[in-house]
Amino acid sequence: MKATVKSPANIAFIKYWGRLDHDIYLPLSTTNSMNLSECYATTTIEFHDSFQQDSVTILDQNDKENEIDLTKGHKNIMLKKTLDRVREKSEVDLNAKIVSKLSFPLGTGIASSAAGLSAFVVAAYEAVDCSSVSQDPQELSREVRLSGSPSAARSVMDGFTELLFGETHETSYVREIADENHWDIYDITVVVNSAEKKISSSQGHEGASSSPFYNARIEYLKGIPEKVRTAILDKDFSTLAKFSQADAINMHGVMMTQDPAAIYFNAGSFEVITKVLELQDQGMEVFFTFDAGANPHLIVTEKDKKALIDIINSLNLVEFYIENKPAKGTQIIDSHLF
Ligand code: PMV
Repeated sequence: MKATVKSPANIAFIKYWGRLDHDIYLPLSTTNSMNLSECYATTTIEFHDSFQQDSVTILDQNDKENEIDLTKGHKNIMLKKTLDRVREKSEVDLNAKIVSKLSFPLGTGIASSAAGLSAFVVAAYEAVDCSSVSQDPQELSREVRLSGSPSAARSVMDGFTELLFGETHETSYVREIADENHWDIYDITVVVNSAEKKISSSQGHEGASSSPFYNARIEYLKGIPEKVRTAILDKDFSTLAKFSQADAINMHGVMMTQDPAAIYFNAGSFEVITKVLELQDQGMEVFFTFDAGANPHLIVTEKDKKALIDIINSLNLVEFYIENKPAKGTQIIDSHLF
């Protein structure tokens, strides 16, 4: 009972911030994203009667091992809960060993949870051979959402995807907008802060409704995910840029005005924002977006990619960057990590 899955992180164009339901992790609106080719997790999971307890080990790029304590911290407790749910649904009552490796440095402020959680959940259902879930991508996406991260659910399908708004568990699931070969746009993930963020996104989602701009955000979002979906299908960069960049600013406006305030930007974020606004004025096809962190994601077309990278490399506060193109979603692979 063993399976290995490779799964990408993703960058949202229309963001998930705040929840309709905190128990079953329902996002407040439809959110959409692109999978990232160079930021992924590979996870092997085995259920076996020789294991005395569940164990989770994360390997970073240099194979440095980090043991996870499944009794502490919201994210880790959710991992344990997810394992219990897999056991319940599959009626496999065995402990699990999980090893997960990231393609990018751990704890550098690049969101790892989407890659890690999607790989973990898909591998678990595959390992226990629970075909009612493992053979149904929509059902897999619901299970990933329930594991604590709606954004991770978007990584289950290929290329450009959306997690639908729904008021029930059944109606909030992921569907593909277009596959990874649809459009040659790039995400240059620019690292300006390689420290772990102080406010986890989970804490942040819980505080979102305390912002005076929270209801305004929900109102403003009406109809926008559909416009972004059409822009992706039409390969309409300027419409994607307009709505996506505005949404990142809007989401950070809510973050900064909630209680306690979640301020993720730093001086490096603003150095990059200022430069991108200047480049946009000069006609470059580029826009910025941010997750719950300081590190900008710059979306750029093929024609402007090289020039952008040269400029970004010359900025004072940039530590390094990762060049991503659209990628496949979760994939079952043969090479196990143990
Ligand atoms: O799914 P979480 O809890 O990791 O939250 C992700 C939230 C954002 O990255 C800020 C937005 C998004 O939709 O990816």
